[in-house]
Amino acid sequence: MGGQFGNGKVGFKHWWVSFLLDINYVAVCDIFKKTLHIPRPSSWIPLIFVVRKKSTENMRKICEEQSLLLGKPQMSQTTHNFDPTELAKFESHADEWWNPNGPFQTLHEINPLRLNYIEKYFPLKEQSVLDIGCGGGILAEGMAQRGAHVIGIDLAESSIEKARRHAAKANVTVEYFCKDAESMANENPGAFDAITCLELLEHVPYPQELVNACSKALAPGGSAFFSTINRNLKSFLFAIVGAEYILKMIPKGTHEYVKLIKPAELIGWCRADGLEVQHLTGLHFNPLTQRYRLGGKVNVNYFCWCIKK
Ligand SMILES: C[S@@+](CC[C@H](N)C(=O)[O-])C[C@H]1O[C@@H](n2cnc3c(N)ncnc32)[C@H](O)[C@@H]1O
Repeated sequence: MGGQFGNGKVGFKHWWVSFLLDINYVAVCDIFKKTLHIPRPSSWIPLIFVVRKKSTENMRKICEEQSLLLGKPQMSQTTHNFDPTELAKFESHADEWWNPNGPFQTLHEINPLRLNYIEKYFPLKEQSVLDIGCGGGILAEGMAQRGAHVIGIDLAESSIEKARRHAAKANVTVEYFCKDAESMANENPGAFDAITCLELLEHVPYPQELVNACSKALAPGGSAFFSTINRNLKSFLFAIVGAEYILKMIPKGTHEYVKLIKPAELIGWCRADGLEVQHLTGLHFNPLTQRYRLGGKVNVNYFCWCIKK
């Protein structure tokens, strides 16, 4: 991996050839099998030119880091549906959850948008909501402030501690537990009017099992909300290269390409678990206005709303 960069066989002028060759086996397969059917390739071409300005050295670093991440055993140390490497990443930033300019700045910035999205389809007042992978409670507190009875769970102990302390300080009532979704669902089947599982599916080894746990914990007729990142060349360039390495909107290594999830995969898992998908929408960032908006295509970040049968 990374060997073809600058080794004489593929010169710097043609770094993009080696970039494409070097990404990794899975990405290359994905590019050739799936991504070439992107309806408007022109939409990601401008980013290639932005990336082009970065040095070849930078591109090698990105690919090497991705390769290292991809090369890590995903499940060898896990007995349940979590990855200690992923949890460690979030633990290391636990003190920064409520820093609006810190590593979770993006989550703070998109929070009003996603709260509005949830409330558009599911009025929160007096409803019981389980927020899975709640982190420091950015979304959980927002939902509680809109009148929901919220339980937040996360497997990163220090994030849960931070969430509890912040809620107490802000005088917002949220119950937080360091617990996994599967245990919560087994202990409280059908107990919740809504489940939110935002920005988590792409961090667990078995996302389908997590969707299953969400369905199990949800009451019939209840709503499930998921948000995650699509898997294709455009999302690799925008959500990983662009957001982590060029614009530095989120910490490097936050996302691993192979763990990203295509909408068709998510829809299939939902259907298999009795969750009827009602709506999908994209989340887009405009670097010129520095603003986010919901709507449009789902080829990078996207949200999904389902109802349990
Ligand atoms: C990107 S953050 C999203 C936080 C929150 N959902 C939001 O959107 O504001 C992912 C969170 O999922 C947590 N997490 C990772 N794996 C988990 C698992 N298997 N079960 C529960 N939480 C998990 C991490 O500790 C982290 O707090």
